[in-house]
Amino acid sequence: MEWKIGDVEIENQIVLAPMAGICDSAYRRIVKSMGCGLIETEMVSTRAVMHLNRKTREMLHMTDYERPIAQQIFGSDSESFKIAAEYIYKNMSPEIIDINMGCPVPQVVKAGEGVALMEDLPKASKIIEACKRSGKVVSVKCRIGMNPEKIVIEEFARMCESSGADMITVHGRTRSMMYEGEPLYDYIRIAKNAVKIPVFANGGIDSKEKAEMTMSKTGADGVMLARFGFENPLLFAELTNTKTPDTKYTLIMEQLDIATECFDELFALTYIKKLSSYFMKKLPGTKKYKQDLYKCGSVGLVREVLGRIFWG
Ligand SMILES: Cc1cc2nc3c(=O)[nH]c(=O)nc-3n(C[C@H](O)[C@H](O)[C@H](O)COP(=O)(O)O)c2cc1C
Repeated sequence: MEWKIGDVEIENQIVLAPMAGICDSAYRRIVKSMGCGLIETEMVSTRAVMHLNRKTREMLHMTDYERPIAQQIFGSDSESFKIAAEYIYKNMSPEIIDINMGCPVPQVVKAGEGVALMEDLPKASKIIEACKRSGKVVSVKCRIGMNPEKIVIEEFARMCESSGADMITVHGRTRSMMYEGEPLYDYIRIAKNAVKIPVFANGGIDSKEKAEMTMSKTGADGVMLARFGFENPLLFAELTNTKTPDTKYTLIMEQLDIATECFDELFALTYIKKLSSYFMKKLPGTKKYKQDLYKCGSVGLVREVLGRIFWG
């Protein structure tokens, strides 16, 4: 069934979460090949976009294959959001700009960015309006509040809608919960019932059953997967009924091909070692292999070691 966020069509309501240091173009392409309906990038600072250097340019790189795609940005003042959104729409043309209002990291919160914006609704509203001035589709990713005493998701969701947001993704945890504990599904439901724009649910989805349970407990329009989709990208395929390579080995080799095509050898090596370690997490007796893998100095050696790991 086809679905829309603003005027952006998505094939299904399964979304890849933004994850700093993870959701680069190579990983996004593998998730796309698993049928994921909407891909998000990692967060990029609005100030970094304004003072564009090589690293930021690389972070903003996206391919047509990944579309529709949402570029996530974070910051604290509406002017920098306006400039960054305009630049990104003009030069990278993502279908959606996603505003980070959920990041709990101390240095981000101290700077009045990420989840800190849930404490300042007028400022958050100005930021959404500034991004909407681009005339394009804008979404917001948030939590439910700062801590159990400060759960503001209902009024926050209303503010997002009245400021022009086209979609909200609610990570069902407070900032004080960080990434631990069962998401508080009732609050995602409250957000869903408070607005007419699509509300997606995020947090703790590690299986098809959990995705279905999240949908039924929250009434959300779709789900966003983060850590568990990274550990096992095949989860995206399961949720979207997409046929995939039949082993993790084939999958990782595909990733290695993409990484060597996109990046220089050093970066490709770092990337593939990181990804393989995640894939090995649940395989018994892989500690020794992991050490071998980390010693590899070339893509050829990595291929050899990965063959031993995944084929025994
Ligand atoms: C390594 C890592 C990086 C993350 N980076 C971002 C980010 O750039 N932007 C964002 O909105 N959330 C970020 N998150 C939060 C996730 O998008 C997601 O909301 C959170 O992990 C909860 O979902 P999960 O329980 O399915 O992992 C990050 C999470 C992790 C683990």
